[in-house]
Amino acid sequence: MSRAYFKLQELDARFDLLKPKQSILELGAAPGGWVRYIEDKLSGQGSLYIAVDPSPVKSSGLAKVIRGKSNEPRVAQEIEEILDSRKLDLVLSDMAPKISGVRIVDDSASRELADEALNTASRYLGPGGVMVSKLFQGKEAQSFVEELKKCFLKAVIFKPEASRSESREIFVVANGFRAEL
Ligand SMILES: C[S@@+](CC[C@H](N)C(=O)[O-])C[C@H]1O[C@@H](n2cnc3c(N)ncnc32)[C@H](O)[C@@H]1O
Repeated sequence: MSRAYFKLQELDARFDLLKPKQSILELGAAPGGWVRYIEDKLSGQGSLYIAVDPSPVKSSGLAKVIRGKSNEPRVAQEIEEILDSRKLDLVLSDMAPKISGVRIVDDSASRELADEALNTASRYLGPGGVMVSKLFQGKEAQSFVEELKKCFLKAVIFKPEASRSESREIFVVANGFRAEL
């Protein structure tokens, strides 16, 4: 099992994210560690699960895989076709930029992806929905939490133990989406 698998396992144990019959969208799903965890836990339990990434994603069948980037109109169209007017319960983003090594550039690229995930979540989450998004620790993460608090009841930062201690990645977990805003 990949390190990614255990990160999602920890996030799930701490925040009780994944339940039967949910509709779930995952952004940044390749190569498939999170897909494996979600399929292990939810296969055969009436879930709708969409996984998006420009790179190939390994799935045992539950995930409906869309090859493309989260901000591509064609990807949005495919998501809408699969959802068929249903709303999502959970949006997960493990999207990460290609690392340049220049901290300010990488922080801003990671924030851009988190903003894309929030745009997508705002379009498709139903009332009370939950969002998890990866970011690099720092000012951008802090300001993203403040942004999330405008449209979710609560938003907190979590660093899984499975995440390398030298890695600056953290996850922001927001719940109680206020769909009426
Ligand atoms: C850390 S990896 C994801 C690992 C994955 N969650 C797993 O468990 O195997 C980050 C992924 O984000 C994807 N990514 C980067 N930008 C993206 C975008 N705009 N839309 C969708 N995926 C993106 C990359 O292709 C890469 O596969």
